Amino acid sequence: MSPDPATEKPSPGVTDAGMPVRGYRVAPGGTLVGEVGVPGDKSISHRAIMLGALADGATEVTGFLEGADSLATLAAFRNMGVQIVGPEAGRVHIQGVGRDGLTAPNGPLDVGNAGTAMRLLCGLLAGQPFESTLVGDASLSRRPMRRVTDPLAQMGAAIDTTPAGTAPLRIHPVDRLHGIDYAMPVASAQVKSCLLLAGLYADGETCVTEPAVTRDHTERMLATFSCPVQRDGARVCLRGGSRLTAAPVAVPADISSAAFFLVGASIAAGADLILPAVGVNPTRIGVLNILRAMGADIEIANRRDCGAEPVADLRVRSARLSGIEIPRDQVPLAIDEFPALFIAAACAEGETLLTGAEELRVKESDRIAVMAAGLVALGVDAEVLPDGIRIRGVGNGRLTGGTVHSHGDHRIAMAFAIAALRAAEPVVVQDSANVDTSFPGFAALAAGAGLDIEETAAVAAETAQ
Ligand code: S3P
Repeated sequence: MSPDPATEKPSPGVTDAGMPVRGYRVAPGGTLVGEVGVPGDKSISHRAIMLGALADGATEVTGFLEGADSLATLAAFRNMGVQIVGPEAGRVHIQGVGRDGLTAPNGPLDVGNAGTAMRLLCGLLAGQPFESTLVGDASLSRRPMRRVTDPLAQMGAAIDTTPAGTAPLRIHPVDRLHGIDYAMPVASAQVKSCLLLAGLYADGETCVTEPAVTRDHTERMLATFSCPVQRDGARVCLRGGSRLTAAPVAVPADISSAAFFLVGASIAAGADLILPAVGVNPTRIGVLNILRAMGADIEIANRRDCGAEPVADLRVRSARLSGIEIPRDQVPLAIDEFPALFIAAACAEGETLLTGAEELRVKESDRIAVMAAGLVALGVDAEVLPDGIRIRGVGNGRLTGGTVHSHGDHRIAMAFAIAALRAAEPVVVQDSANVDTSFPGFAALAAGAGLDIEETAAVAAETAQ
C-alpha cells in the first residue's frame, strides 16, 4: 500500500534518496516594508510555452517564471522538437512548430511536481500521432488523473494510468479524436484546459461546462493566438482543427506568490508593502476578496492590461483581521492561496470556517491535513473537516513558534515561513526545496523586505524530534 501523504510521518531532514533537505529557520517578529516584485505567473507561463510551441511563427515571452514547474514544461517541448531560446531574465523565444509539428520525444516526459503540466499535456498529447509517457515526482504520482483521462477517453483517446488512476500516463496515438460536450464534476481549470487542448485535434466542437468559475488563462491566451473560444455562461467551446498564430505574451506577476506577502504584511506590525504589476484576473482574485472580507488593508491601484491579462499594483498594510465564513463561490478563485489564507485566519480574531474545499486534499499535498498539523504545532486551534477546516485565530496574541513540516509542498513551506512574523519563538520549516517549483528566490526576496529568514540544508535534521 502506498503511504498516505496526509498522515505519513515525514522522515525529518532527509529526502527519499537520503539527501538532506533544505529548510527555513525564521526568527519571530519583524515586519515587511518596501517593494517586492514577485516572479511571473506559473499558470500563464505553462500556457505560454504550450501555445507558443503549437503556434505558426515565433512567440516572445516576457516575465516567464523560471521555476522548476514551468521549466519542466519548457523541457518537455524541447524534447518534442521545439526550438526554445532562454529563459534569460524571464525572456523566452519559442519557434512554433505549428499545430501538427511536434515530434516524438526520446523517452518519458518528466514534469516533476507540476500538475498543470501533466494534466494539460495529457490533453495535448492525446491528439498526437506518436506515443508518449508522462511521469512526475512522488507527490504528482499520487494525484488523481482520471479527471482528465476519463473525459479524454470519451473523446476517443487511448491513455493508460496505474490501477489507482495515477501517473505514469502512457498516451497511445489514435486515428481520430471527436469533440464532446462535457460537464465537469469538479471545478478545475486544469481539466477544462486539458480538454480544450485535446479539442484542437478533435473533429467538431469540444465544449466544457464548469460547475463554478475557474481560471480562464487558456481561453484568453487562445484568443490572443487567434483561436477563438466561445463562452456562453459556464460553457466554453472550441472548434477542432483551428490553427494558432504566434503572439507576444507578457506574463504578469503571480498573485499566488503575492499571496504570501499580502498575508505577511497584514499580520505583521508596522508593515507597508507594495507589490507591483500583479495579475488581477477576476478568476484569480479570491485571495483579495477573502482578505478584504477579513479586514485586510489592501489598495488596488493603477489597473491596466498586460496583454490579455489585467494587472494592478497592490499596497498592503498591517490590519486587525477577523475570522469569517469563507464564501463557497470564492473557493475556486483562491484555490492555491489557502495555505497563506490559513495563516491569516490563525492570526485573526475569532473563527474562520472553510467548507466546500475538498480539492485542497489532492494538491501537492493534502493541504487541509498538512496545514492543520502545522498550525497545531504553532499553538493554533485548528480542526480538520472532510471538506475544509475550522481555525480559531489568536486575535491580539501570537503563534507559539515551533517546527512544521511542508510535506514537500512549496506553498505550505512559504505560508509557515510568513507565519513567523506573528510568532513568539522561531519557526522552523522542514523541507523548503520545492519552493523552487513556483517561487525561486522566495527567501531572498522576503529577507529583503524584512523577514529574518535563514535557509539551510541542516536545519531540518538538527531540530526534528
Ligand atoms: C491551475 C489550476 C488549479 C491550480 C493549479 C494551477 C492551472 O488546479 O490549483 O495550481 O494552471 O490551470 P485545478 O484547476 O485542478 O483546481
